[in-house]
Amino acid sequence: MFSPGSHPNIALPHPTTGLPAALDPTLGLRGDYRRMRADYVTEQDWEGYTGAEHDLWRQLYARQVVVAKRYAADAFLTGLSRLQMPQDRVPRFDETSDRLQALTGWRIVAVPGLIPEDAFFLHLAKRQFPVTVWLRRPDEIDYLVEPDVFHDFFGHVPLLTQPVFADYLQEYGRKGQEAIQLGTTRMLTRLFWYMVEFGLIRGSDGIKAYGAGMLSSATETAFSIDSRQPHRLKFNLARVMRTDYRIDSFQQSYFVIDNFTELFEAMQQPFAPIYADLHGEDIIPASGLISSDVVLQVGQQTLA
Ligand SMILES: [Fe+2]
Repeated sequence: MFSPGSHPNIALPHPTTGLPAALDPTLGLRGDYRRMRADYVTEQDWEGYTGAEHDLWRQLYARQVVVAKRYAADAFLTGLSRLQMPQDRVPRFDETSDRLQALTGWRIVAVPGLIPEDAFFLHLAKRQFPVTVWLRRPDEIDYLVEPDVFHDFFGHVPLLTQPVFADYLQEYGRKGQEAIQLGTTRMLTRLFWYMVEFGLIRGSDGIKAYGAGMLSSATETAFSIDSRQPHRLKFNLARVMRTDYRIDSFQQSYFVIDNFTELFEAMQQPFAPIYADLHGEDIIPASGLISSDVVLQVGQQTLA
């Protein structure tokens, strides 16, 4: 049940992060940024996790896998199984990286926490997914402001085993460099938000969740599929790029793809002309509808 005033999402996803190119130490981000390399990669220091942290991972995993089995896209569940993701301890990144690399050529890189968008894009372009090393505290099991290792690892890494999605995300990273030069990262970030963190996909037995933001949340996954509150709209790249989003509540609109090829193909077109077309267009509110929308469900929006 939605509880107004509290953030129902376990972890705020990477908003591709919106941070300045050089991290400002006064931002107060969690994580130890002192020992990282220039590309923000650090050591995971797996031996440093406590027994209590491994136990918290076990609790988080046990809860989320039940949710995922009911609501997640087949590709996510297949990814969980292919990666042999540990259920009872924080994963060792190198172990999973080796399995992931054999499947799609991606690797995981350890980072202290949120990283600037230019570094984030560069890692993706090199088929490296940045995963935060620290785990939330027990009192944050349901609510967390910054992404932690559970959000990044459980939420994002399984889908990197899906070859087409993996290629899509690399192309996203490449497009990030261009967006920085063009000053259009805000539009690109909305694509990440809606189609990586909160994406839905049509499956053989109905709409399923594949986004990391919902699948690492105990409650938003069910909301995204079952609730009559949000709009569910057919994916349209330019439409997503001009849609505002909520970081303080469940999403008011979700976009639905038919398959990952649809995402990948949308990413293959030149973005500069799309940015130019959208320049000066109004931003669509998170709860808004426009005449060109292909609406799968009109949300009641009474919780907004
Ligand atoms: Fe994320």
